[in-house]
Amino acid sequence: MSAVPAAEPAVVSRVHAPGRVNLIGEHTDYTRGLVFPMAIDRGTTISFVPTPSRIELSSDAADGTVRLDLPTELPPSAVTPAWGRYVAAMARQLDAVVGITGTITSDIPAGAGLSSSAALECAIGLALGFSGSPTELALAAQQAEHAATSVPTGIMDQLCIAAARSGHATLIDCRTLDIEHVPVPDGIAVEVEFISHRTLEGSGYADRVADCARAEEALGPLRDATIADVIAATTLDSHARRRARHVVSENARVIEFAEAFRAGDLATAGQLMTESHESLRLDFGISTPAMDAAVDRAMSTPGTLGARMTGGGFGGCIVTIGEPDAPHRGWSVRAAAGARYL
Ligand code: GLA
Repeated sequence: MSAVPAAEPAVVSRVHAPGRVNLIGEHTDYTRGLVFPMAIDRGTTISFVPTPSRIELSSDAADGTVRLDLPTELPPSAVTPAWGRYVAAMARQLDAVVGITGTITSDIPAGAGLSSSAALECAIGLALGFSGSPTELALAAQQAEHAATSVPTGIMDQLCIAAARSGHATLIDCRTLDIEHVPVPDGIAVEVEFISHRTLEGSGYADRVADCARAEEALGPLRDATIADVIAATTLDSHARRRARHVVSENARVIEFAEAFRAGDLATAGQLMTESHESLRLDFGISTPAMDAAVDRAMSTPGTLGARMTGGGFGGCIVTIGEPDAPHRGWSVRAAAGARYL
């Protein structure tokens, strides 16, 4: 009797993309400013086998199975379940013809402002065989995000997630896309406290982008403007002026924060985070009473050095820095490496 050769077991590959928390530099990326996020040790992992002309994915973090034939011309909005829009948008962005069959696990809550969607896009990109640079992966993922949500987001989330280095925060110049990996100082605890679910779709995010665009029409690039320029722009409507004041002051805070981080001056870094929150609350108008209350609570906790809302706003999380033995309020997070094969 001749033995029937056993089929080769399919080799399962795994890719992982971290979430991110933004330490400082909020709503500055889409005017080509400065941001200082940190990839975190929470993320999205895909276990998969390559599959010709097809994607089939389920997730432990969301309902439903995404099924797509490749290459896909489907508008992402036509894809169900809803999280499949990011998968379809990335597949379309990469003109993928070889798909994947697999499962997703994630411990980044959706709607928390920790970039679960950017992590999914970057992980999908790698699983679909993307082989360019981290910056190219980030740009493709940003396009996918726009196609999936129609929200005109910047490059911060995807670039941090694609390019981060373990133990470092990621200082990004959103004009040049230059990155400096800044070591996270010893003796600092970074915590994230989840306050409320939110989505940027249908939020005031796009209005803020439009406000900043009006300010730039009058003032030129906000990246090059000074507070004196903003104060002198008396013909500007009050919304655009306040948004510009936030962006210009926030870019300056990012530079000071990075200097304080490099010098291990955590008291100054913390103070700058608290000033950032005030600017987002008063001038950018994207905090919420619950987030303000959480920041106040955090700041009255012994050992907390700085606290602010983080991410796109309208809900989500606050981020705090503090002494390592300060009482915990949320998740303690560590600086993780960017998207990668495991
Ligand atoms: C969201 C967007 C980013 C950035 C932040 C606000 O996370 O995806 O591009 O604009 O909001 O800083």
